[in-house]
Amino acid sequence: MLILSTYLITGANRGIGLELVRQLKARGEDVIATCRSASKELDSLSVRVETNIDITSGDSVIKLREKLNDIRVDVLIQNAGIAEFNSLSNLDPKSISHQFEVNALSPLCCVQAMLSKLSESAKIALISSRMGSIEDNSSGGSYGYRMSKVALCMAGKSLSVDLKPRGISVGILHPGLVSTRMTGFTSSGIQPKESVKGLIQRIDELTLENTGTFWHANGEILPW
Ligand SMILES: NC(=O)c1ccc[n+]([C@@H]2O[C@H](COP(=O)([O-])OP(=O)(O)OC[C@H]3O[C@@H](n4cnc5c(N)ncnc54)[C@H](OP(=O)(O)O)[C@@H]3O)[C@@H](O)[C@H]2O)c1
Repeated sequence: MLILSTYLITGANRGIGLELVRQLKARGEDVIATCRSASKELDSLSVRVETNIDITSGDSVIKLREKLNDIRVDVLIQNAGIAEFNSLSNLDPKSISHQFEVNALSPLCCVQAMLSKLSESAKIALISSRMGSIEDNSSGGSYGYRMSKVALCMAGKSLSVDLKPRGISVGILHPGLVSTRMTGFTSSGIQPKESVKGLIQRIDELTLENTGTFWHANGEILPW
């Protein structure tokens, strides 16, 4: 028997975040979708939507926490992220710092801020990227994105160690190459529907035994 849960998802107005909301709602879960600005597609899904949630703003995350009142979150999905192009000849340190802030530091701070709202035996899913695997890096470049996602992977590993005694498990997930605005809706990618089906399977299978693992949505374990 499937026990229904409360999911909180960041960056839920489009792309992978929006599809996570769609599929979780479809199987009957309670979903709290957070975003900076809602989209028509998100509004049409009839879930609780919290707008003006910029993950880089501690104030907006704390306001969100207060608005949850006595709700307990069973699954926190840190999905929001950005990708900017930084080649060696055009490093753009500001862009690299910004990606680090959005993709690594802010998800960690959001998790920390939301800890008091997590249920016993809650799960945390960090949407990282294979681009954050050092061993898998054979194409170089993308300095800001790669460095920020490596840092997110490391944050996830430390969280898995620190939160295990509290019964909270942490999954670090790569969605695959997915056709979204982030990838210019690439035709080489899979559709969000397929990616999210795998992401949800990985989250369903997340336990205290396998906490701290870096998975591809397709179930493959990725190297650090
Ligand atoms: N697509 C891929 O192939 C791929 C591969 C590996 C990993 N990923 C990861 O998957 C996640 C989702 O990506 P996607 O492909 O769905 O990209 P997307 O369509 O560009 O969506 C990105 C989402 O993140 C939100 N966001 C960005 N900055 C934010 C901030 N400061 N505060 C709150 N929300 C913010 C965006 O909100 P706005 O609409 O307000 O900008 C949007 O909802 C990201 O973490 C990405 O790194 C994607």
